[in-house]
Amino acid sequence: MKIIKTIKEMQTYSREMHASGNRVALVPTMGDLHEGHLSLVDAAHRHADIVVVSIFINPTQFAPEEDFDTYPKNLERDCNLCKLRKVDAIFAPEANEMYPEPITAWVIENSLTEVLCGKSRPTHFTGVTTVVTKLFNAVLPEAAIFGEKDFQQVAVIKKMTKDLNFHIEIITVPIVREADGLAMSSRNKYLTEKEHKEALSINISLKAAEEAILSGERNSAVIIKQITLRISQNDGKVDYVEIMNPETLQPITAIEPDTVIAVAAVFGKTRLIDNLVISSASSGLFV
Ligand code: PAF
Repeated sequence: MKIIKTIKEMQTYSREMHASGNRVALVPTMGDLHEGHLSLVDAAHRHADIVVVSIFINPTQFAPEEDFDTYPKNLERDCNLCKLRKVDAIFAPEANEMYPEPITAWVIENSLTEVLCGKSRPTHFTGVTTVVTKLFNAVLPEAAIFGEKDFQQVAVIKKMTKDLNFHIEIITVPIVREADGLAMSSRNKYLTEKEHKEALSINISLKAAEEAILSGERNSAVIIKQITLRISQNDGKVDYVEIMNPETLQPITAIEPDTVIAVAAVFGKTRLIDNLVISSASSGLFV
């Protein structure tokens, strides 16, 4: 497995891989890898010949009061995990390689980023779209793999890819959960044992919502109220519970096939997100 630190070396490696007829897939990460990330690596192997994992904690997607300085770093462990999952190359640039000087050209999506996490993290998605563009230009992949836990991020990246004509297939992979149901996230390790137990209320309330919908409930407001109540009763501070169209991210009042319920809530100091996709095909609902 190659460990690549510079954009130039990364581009040279990818061009060599392309020249020998290989399809390259990129798994963009900020490191501290867990099974959720490794499921993206497995998907990358199914869709390409060469798998590149980028590990870069991107400063421009953190607001000043957020956890950039304390975000978990574990490059050696990450490299070992990637090696076991047969990753071909890791692209792990230093910050001054990606941002040698303050940038003044940004990639901005200004519709899907206005809602949900974009409301409480107004600068976050511009940091994401900009760094993902820079990673696309460094790695030159034919495919890029993203996790569905970051549902809004996926919608924004898909729209950016389409609007800006990136010739890159965006592949998404379902949420991976811990044994107790908490959606895997590098930020879960900030939770105390008590907060972790309380945070299970997110998944429990989403499952209860699915049950209610299976039993015929179609009123979004009722479902939102139930989820909000359960999370609040477990000491979670709800940022949002929204029921919306998965592509436009616009709220819908009556639940229909192909709907997503998205949640963000804070436990202690840790902000967690999760979601439930309700699709006629996957759940047998609405048949
Ligand atoms: O999802 C993440 O880990 C990050 O937002 C990404 C896509 C790697 C960009 O920094």
